[in-house]
Formats: sequence, C-alpha cells, structure tokens
Amino acid sequence: MSASNVTTVPVALRAFGYDVLVGKGASGELAGLLARRVPAARQVAVVTDEAVAAAPWFAGIDPGIPFTVHTVEAGERAKTLANVGALCRAFSRAGLARSDAVVAVGGGVVSDLAGFVAACYHRGTPYCTVATSLLCQVDAAIGGKTGVDLPEGKNLVGAFWQPSGVICDTALLETMPAREWASGRGEMAKYAFLGEPDLPLLGLEVQVARCVARKAAVVSADERDTGERVLLNYGHTLAHALEAACLEVGGDLRHGEAVAVGLVYAALLARRLGRIEDDRVAFHREVLARFGLSGRFPSGLAGVDKERLLSYMARDKKAAHDLAFVLDGPRGVELVREVAPEAVLAALEELACT
Ligand code: GLY
Repeated sequence: MSASNVTTVPVALRAFGYDVLVGKGASGELAGLLARRVPAARQVAVVTDEAVAAAPWFAGIDPGIPFTVHTVEAGERAKTLANVGALCRAFSRAGLARSDAVVAVGGGVVSDLAGFVAACYHRGTPYCTVATSLLCQVDAAIGGKTGVDLPEGKNLVGAFWQPSGVICDTALLETMPAREWASGRGEMAKYAFLGEPDLPLLGLEVQVARCVARKAAVVSADERDTGERVLLNYGHTLAHALEAACLEVGGDLRHGEAVAVGLVYAALLARRLGRIEDDRVAFHREVLARFGLSGRFPSGLAGVDKERLLSYMARDKKAAHDLAFVLDGPRGVELVREVAPEAVLAALEELACT
C-alpha cells in the first residue's frame, strides 16, 4: 500500500501530542509512524476483529517490525473485561514488552478495547490505531477514551490513554456496508453544528480531516472531559437512551444512526426552550438529509414508553441529578442544565410524530 495525498492533523496535548494521518492509502504509513513515535518497539501486537481480519487488504497491514495478530469477535460484545484479560495474557505469551506497541486495526470497538488493553498492559504500553470505519475515523480513534462494557452498562470501565498515532485510511472505507456508512455519517453530522456547517458539501477525505481537526481542538483544550469536551456529545443524550432502549427490545440500531435522531431531537428541544428558531431546526434536517439520513424516530422503538427514555436520559453522564443536554442556541452549541422534564417529554412526542 503506498500513501498518497495524506493529510497530517496534529493533536496537541499537555504532556505530548500525536498525529492523525488522513487520506487514501494512509495505512501504508504505519511502519513509518511506529518508527517515529515508538522507536524502541521491537515487536507489535496487532488487535483486530474477525470481520476486519477477513478483509483482503488486512494482509497488507505492515507495522515494519515483527508482529503477532490477536483477533476478537466482531461487534460490541467484544468489549468485555474477559477479552482484556485474554489479550493481556496473549501479549505476555508473545513476549510483548512495555517498550513495544499495540496496534488496533478496526472500528470503534477494537480501538476502545485495544486502547484499554494497552493502557493496562505493563501499566501502560504505547498504541496506535488504524481506524477502519468512518465512525472510528471521525470520533472513536481520536482523543484517548478507551474502555469496555459491563453487563450494567456501556463503557463503564476505561481509561484515558492517548494513542501514539492514528491512521484514517479512507480507502479502507470503500467496502464498508451501507449501515456503517449511515452510522459514520450520523456521527459526522454533529460537527456541522460544531463549526463545520459546510461539511456535507465536501469530499470524504476533507470531511474526515475536518472532523479530526475539530475533535483534536476540543481534546487539546479538555483532554479529560471535564469541560468543553462535553460538546462532542451533541445529539448523544437521546442517542444513548435510544441505544439502551433498543438493547432491551433486542432491536438493531447503530450508534451513528441514533446520533442522527438525537440531533433532530436536540434541535426540537432547543426550539421548545426558545433557544433557536424554525430555520435552525430546518438546517439540522437539511444537514442530515445531505448525509442521506432521515433522523426519524426509529420505527422499532415506536412502542417504547417515553418516560423510559426520559429515565435513561436522566442517567446520562452529563447529568448531575438533573436533565442536562448539549443544545444549540444564540451562542452556538453549549451545555444546558436543569432542563424541565415536561419539555423533554414534549419534544420526544414531537419527534415521534414527525
Ligand atoms: N466521543 C466523545 C469524546 O471523545 O469525548
């Protein structure tokens, strides 16, 4: 794989920074990235999932030094503490040292899991991610949030552990299934309201690079998610509630699909609270339409009790015993606390009826 037209987006952090390489063929830069950023590494543990390992291009992934491949099951069910233990043991058997490197090759699940294993193994081993889904390229791979799920909830165990580098090879997206494109575009759409209003009009490489640069700027300012990083949660309060409700009824809803619905909902709620006008709600719908997304309430959840969704939203990580949302308004998107439950429910009814 030879790299061409690769854009480098820096992520500046207080302790150290790293680069995100974006473009067609960027995965051909992996060996160079590792040599620059983890020069002491003598071997690499590549972590991937069964679906990615079966892709024809996977055989071309070349860390430039000896490597072992560790494959987990595809999908969210791989994000378990059991897999953390299994991977650490496999790394140990492979003789991986703290000065070596872990390379995650996959989507958000693999990057979350492998990043967390890297954070734990030898109390912290360098890792890089080759992000193979759009959602991972524009969000999950950037910013060092790693972790796994518990039966009690998603991402309940994790660590902030920044990668040494990230590769967003847009050529790897060419064979991505339609649902994964929709999911990635749903996540991408949030950036249109975080300073990138023209995003739907751009080509894929520029879109990914712009999203990465936006996320990098937010992460640089608030690495540990104690302030403005919450803005990256735009559209996510209802999205997480829908995902939880969907799990309960055994439905099938991708994260970015849920975010698309959550963005429309956030606009309806903001209008209800007098923060934005009709034209801004229309802009939300227009952005989603340009990304080929309807943002409509999922038909499979039509029967779900709205009070149940409300209770999930009250458990959101932004909430401090209240209902808190990231909402659009005259000053742009910001965190709004103590939103009245009546408004939240009324906006839900409005969303379900449109
Ligand atoms: N996905 C949101 C964040 O990284 O903060």
